[in-house]
Amino acid sequence: MKNVILIGFMGVGKGSIAREVAKNSHYMTMDTDDLIESMENKKIKNIFEEEGEEYFRGLEKKVALWLEKSVTNTLISTGGGFYKQKNIKKIATIVFLDSPFDEIIKRIKKHPNAATKLKKRPLLKDLKKAKELYDLRRPEYLKLSDIVIDVTKKSALDCSKELLKKVKKYA
Ligand code: S3P
Repeated sequence: MKNVILIGFMGVGKGSIAREVAKNSHYMTMDTDDLIESMENKKIKNIFEEEGEEYFRGLEKKVALWLEKSVTNTLISTGGGFYKQKNIKKIATIVFLDSPFDEIIKRIKKHPNAATKLKKRPLLKDLKKAKELYDLRRPEYLKLSDIVIDVTKKSALDCSKELLKKVKKYA
């Protein structure tokens, strides 16, 4: 099986959908932010605060090169900016999880851990700036993707079923 990579804006549900796919298929799953936190033994928020965004993007690059060289048969969830890695097309079939900005924010806010979810994402601190980032990125996500899944008002289970059906063509 070829790798599958999930891209999309912060809070769209990449992690939840990846876990659901892993539960219902033979894919193993890993997350680029989790790999970075293990590498640095530090939370993403602290890497941003102490080392800065550029340093974080360098770690994403290191992960991207390793994924291309060493990982197969895996469903990879990513941080919202990982799609900028130049070799991403070589790593996997790319699935973009799409939803309007307001729906994403609503989704985060209704989560029982909403405060934590917002706090751990430095680029979501200022919602006006986050919306600008969303508007800039959405066309880029769309352009890059092999498959688009509209996740609005769908459960992670339903999205995972749709994903498994659609990736078959690329396996
Ligand atoms: C980022 C998204 C975050 C994390 C970092 C930067 C981004 O991941 O990688 O805070 O640039 O969009 P999530 O998409 O899981 O929130």
